Amino acid sequence: MISPATIDEVKNRMDIVDVISDFVSLKKSGQNYKALSPFTNEKTPSFFVVPAKGIFKDFSSGKGGDAITFVMEHEGMSYAEAIRFLAKKYGVAIQEEQAETSQESQERDALYILMNFAKDYYRDNLLKTEEGRSVGLTYFRERGFNDRTLEKFELGYALEGWEHFSAEAIQKGYNRELLEKAGLVVKKEDGSAYDRFRGRVIFPVHSISGKVIAFGARMLGKDKNQPKYINSPETEIYHKSNVLYGLYQAKNSIRQHDNCYLVEGYTDVISMHQSDVDNVVASSGTALTEEQIKLIRRFTENVTVLFDGDAAGIKAALRGIDMILKGGLNVRVALFPDGEDPDSYSRKVGTSAFQQFLKDHAQDFISFKAGLYAREAGGDPIRKAESIKEIVQSISLIPDPVKRSVYLQETSHQLKISEAVLITELNKILIQERKRRDRDAPVEVMPLPAETTGEEQTISKLDPSTMVYYQERETIRLLLNYADQALEDNKVASFLVQELEDVEFTNEVFRDIYGRFKEGVERGDRVDSQYFLQQGSAEIKKAVTDLLTSRYEVSPHWRDKYKIYFPGEADNLGSLTLTNVLRLKFRFVQKMMDSNLQEIKKAEEKGNWDELDEALQTQEGLKKAERELASALGIVVAR
Ligand code: CTP
Ligand code: MN
Repeated sequence: MISPATIDEVKNRMDIVDVISDFVSLKKSGQNYKALSPFTNEKTPSFFVVPAKGIFKDFSSGKGGDAITFVMEHEGMSYAEAIRFLAKKYGVAIQEEQAETSQESQERDALYILMNFAKDYYRDNLLKTEEGRSVGLTYFRERGFNDRTLEKFELGYALEGWEHFSAEAIQKGYNRELLEKAGLVVKKEDGSAYDRFRGRVIFPVHSISGKVIAFGARMLGKDKNQPKYINSPETEIYHKSNVLYGLYQAKNSIRQHDNCYLVEGYTDVISMHQSDVDNVVASSGTALTEEQIKLIRRFTENVTVLFDGDAAGIKAALRGIDMILKGGLNVRVALFPDGEDPDSYSRKVGTSAFQQFLKDHAQDFISFKAGLYAREAGGDPIRKAESIKEIVQSISLIPDPVKRSVYLQETSHQLKISEAVLITELNKILIQERKRRDRDAPVEVMPLPAETTGEEQTISKLDPSTMVYYQERETIRLLLNYADQALEDNKVASFLVQELEDVEFTNEVFRDIYGRFKEGVERGDRVDSQYFLQQGSAEIKKAVTDLLTSRYEVSPHWRDKYKIYFPGEADNLGSLTLTNVLRLKFRFVQKMMDSNLQEIKKAEEKGNWDELDEALQTQEGLKKAERELASALGIVVAR
């Protein structure tokens, strides 16, 4: 562990402009600096550095923070790694605290050095020995790997024979014990040892910062009695579940494309690089782990799963999708024709057709799952119901409730099923999940939506303005139906009017209706739906009639059985109105952020730094409000 004194010293010395300039070419702009975002692929600069505050802010990706955060985000480093990096840059001596003994860290260093030696050794074998060239190199050439690829992935070859490698390593001064700890030799019962990798081509596995930490060794030809791959065992520096093959080579590209392709094997990764698709990693034959997803998350929130279209591939894709959703990332899927994987397919159709295939075939997980079950189900309604359950099951894994509800809306749109039905299904799953885990834990069931009409069903990509519209509509619906109902120490109408004091409705019809309710609250007279139906304009009458239609209700049986209140309506108005207020504000804030971003761009173009600074601060404030509202929404639960 790095001592707090060291961290302080680094913080004192670091200079944000200096640090960022190592990675991004900054242009002076008034007091500040700007550049094209290094995190996205933008055309107009929205990346700002504010030296006076020691911070950067990237409006296209939403990232921001101090120089340490920048290094972490840009280089995919942990906090400690970033501190070490900056300490080195500024010549700060690192004091370690006693978490890791120096002996342990020396041993790790020795392993890194040995693995690097082994990598160089296998590379030399491949390129400089006769056996390596005639067997290994020929094999790689047959697979279509070019020189650049061999170098980029540091591919190698292990000679046939029991101790070529160990003899060489020992002669170079590495001790036997270390060779065994590194997994490079296998020890026999009698104490003697032999090389683990023999007569195979070698795929080094790199850490995120490019150090070799393990090897995969593929056999040549097709000997049925041997495993196709022999891999390094777990060691002090290699924890399989924590590593993604190809991430080191892919990380910059993943960030630039804001997407990460996920494939199964070593050769899939490499072939995709050869087709100029280099934002790709492999889980290397094991089921994807939580840690691996966190690694991807350092660079992007978007994953596209690429698997073979056979039964095994589909199964793996389904498992992968759920893991990725659970990790809070967005997931898309593309399946290759039966029997093809990214490796074989890219070689078969060539670079441009392959890239086109990825563009055309990557679909979101909802349509992927829907398509899958539709194929099986045909017109069978029972099977269709099962497929809906499957989709909702996946959605239930998404940790962010706001995102969850967007996906439900999308499903409702795609499958032409009312959102209320989907939410009911989701709530069922959440309750079952609770029963499985812990009977007494609270359940965060989702409130039912305002009744949907045809109009909403056609909107699938929801921009902030549209979302604001829906929430305004919901506010009006609550007012029309429940204005006079009592809440804990208030009435619905006065609660809403109080809470929405700072909100101006964007939709004219809703603004008029709301204005009348507000007047009513202020004067103490009663306003109800009848008033509008008698006195309102044609537009108002129509809106009011639409909104008075009753909503979907959940069976009371559930409430009795599970002691869970559904925000079904009248019996849960408190939570319903509060949720509405929060959501309305949440969407408003998002809408304001959109338009403030335009202000930032304008100020930037005009070169008005005062305006720019102000707009930047506004954006910070909005961002903060958005976060707070989102987290408040996450905990508005109906029990
Ligand atoms: N794998 C393994 N051990 C095996 C088979 C597979 O560790 N006996 C892992 C490897 O990481 C491999 C991945 O699972 O990369 C996917 O397997 P596969 O598709 O069979 O291998 P590829 O790397 O695609 O190799 P090839 O195309 O040469 O068959
Ligand atoms: Mn393969």
